[in-house]
Amino acid sequence: MMMRTHRCGELSRRHVGETVTLNGWVQRRRDHGNVIFIDVRDRQGMTQVVFNPEISPAAHQQAHGLRGEFVVALTGAVALRPEGSANPNLTTGEIEVLVATVEILNEAKTPPFLIEDESEVTEALRLKYRYLDLRRPKMQRLLRLRHEVMQQARAFLNEQGFLEVETPMLTKSTPEGARDYLVPSRVNPGCFYALPQSPQLFKQILMVGGVDRYYQIARCFRDEDLRHDRQPEFTQIDLELSFIDREQIMVLMEEMIRQVFKKVAGVELPKPFPRMAYAEAMGRYGSDKPDLRFGMPLHDLQNFASKTEFKVFKDTLAKGGLVKAIVVKGGAEISRSRIDALGETAKSFGAKGLAWVKIVGDGQLESVIAKFLDARQLLAAVPEAQAGDLVLFVADKPKVVHDVLGRLRLLLAEERNLIDQKDWRPLWVVDFPMLDYDEAVKRYVAIHHPFTAPLDEDLPLLESDPLKVRAKAYDLVLNGNELGGGSTRMHRREVQSKVFDLLGMGKEEATAKFGFLLEALEYGAPPHGGIAFGLDRLIMLLGGADSIRDVIAFPKTQRAQCPMTDAPSQVSPAQLKELNIKLDLIE
Ligand code: AMO
Ligand code: AMP
Repeated sequence: MMMRTHRCGELSRRHVGETVTLNGWVQRRRDHGNVIFIDVRDRQGMTQVVFNPEISPAAHQQAHGLRGEFVVALTGAVALRPEGSANPNLTTGEIEVLVATVEILNEAKTPPFLIEDESEVTEALRLKYRYLDLRRPKMQRLLRLRHEVMQQARAFLNEQGFLEVETPMLTKSTPEGARDYLVPSRVNPGCFYALPQSPQLFKQILMVGGVDRYYQIARCFRDEDLRHDRQPEFTQIDLELSFIDREQIMVLMEEMIRQVFKKVAGVELPKPFPRMAYAEAMGRYGSDKPDLRFGMPLHDLQNFASKTEFKVFKDTLAKGGLVKAIVVKGGAEISRSRIDALGETAKSFGAKGLAWVKIVGDGQLESVIAKFLDARQLLAAVPEAQAGDLVLFVADKPKVVHDVLGRLRLLLAEERNLIDQKDWRPLWVVDFPMLDYDEAVKRYVAIHHPFTAPLDEDLPLLESDPLKVRAKAYDLVLNGNELGGGSTRMHRREVQSKVFDLLGMGKEEATAKFGFLLEALEYGAPPHGGIAFGLDRLIMLLGGADSIRDVIAFPKTQRAQCPMTDAPSQVSPAQLKELNIKLDLIE
């Protein structure tokens, strides 16, 4: 085989006159009768090559047989393209290679879709033929970006004295709020390993083990409903540090993120990252991961609403609920049918209704509920609202009001093009509540995970008013996405045991599930804390991809399947028998 001397994206004006060999795939063939043009492609780029019978009749003859995705080796001289035929969109656009010899290294069937960025193709087909999909320049770019982000993160962490340590994949369940993937043990009949939802417990134990600073580009497994930013198997940049407080961790971690963005994408993120308490994020943006690239905050209308004659508002307030509103600038022009549709959307988000008011010329209100409202009082309560705007109200329990208006805010910003796609808005969200009360199971549940420490000043509330306890937790949010989350942990056994108690875990259950952690905490566990970043989400944002499936080489579909390998699949009765498993619950 003729070995390549250059890559397909490499040749330029300064190579003119050299004899070169290229290896790659045939992108397309154009037959002009007397001469045949071919674009050959590899990971790096594309070069135009010319088969001219006057240069090599044999090569020209062979070129008739070349088809898309054939693998070829070509040798020839680099020449400037004729006047007027340069392609400024291609790095190699000024030159072409005049082929002397060609060797077909492999033939290819006609691919089911064109190997180019704008290819019209369903995701199912892309995933079935992932090896063809990965040949597209966009996918090559994203894989490279992923590689670079991992290298830069490693470089930063190595520099800061972190050790890269691997933790087991076959392990005991670690709760991160999802279902476990289980693996049966052949040698321990009836027993199962869980694939880690995260390395959480192991990294804490590494701190007890004196490792001081740990990191891992860790694979995590969570059996949960999949979305564009969730995969059953995903990757974290996971780390943990000893003898450090929450403030120092946040400062160090934002330095890492800033450095990665700068080095990989030339993006300068603000220094420091702004911070917002959870309560403010929920109250002002209706979300614990607010997108700060646009305004449209939620306004609390308690005072105004209590003075109106609108029953829905008054009744809601009387029951301890909230009335809040968002202002859609210029929204008075939105049609009645579109507003009704927004109302339906609000209902699908859980609201009972969506009251609205258009503010028309000289501050007059236009609305079915206008008769109940005083225009001057409304404008005083919401100074942001002006003539030409639309105000949307939700009255309900705080959770519903925040969730519905938070989601409408995002939807309207998207629809009305309020988001500057080039803007980067990182934000630390801090002071999360530690616990929530789950009505379904009638007990407290940990919002982050049950190893997160409470704020020192809130410790007494653990007994008296658990829902008021705030956690030493922090989430890094970027443009409305949760990029990472972490906390400082409970390193004292008594505190950790008390929290397990609160979570309704009896002594026995706590020992069965986390006995090894509780025991480790008794042998001189240092104060410690850490964080994990969603690597896939980070690449998705940096690379402008629509889904994390685009930044994972071999992702799963929404149904957690791999169309290429057909995983998951049935296994033989013999395999099941060996594992002591009988499938008698499947219809
Ligand atoms: P957490 O559960 O918040 O924290 O996860 C950390 C980050 O991982 C990403 N992530 C996901 N990405 C893709 N698909 C998923 N299914 C998925 N789930 C989570 C998110 C998230 O912010 N052990 C703790 C960290 C710690 O406390 O140190 C943990 O796993 O970007
Ligand atoms: P009604 O009095 O039920 O005809 O409702 C009048 C308007 O108030 C309609 O636009 C409803 O969508 C809206 N509405 C009803 N319930 C609520 C609520 N809980 N919050 C906000 N708007 C509501």
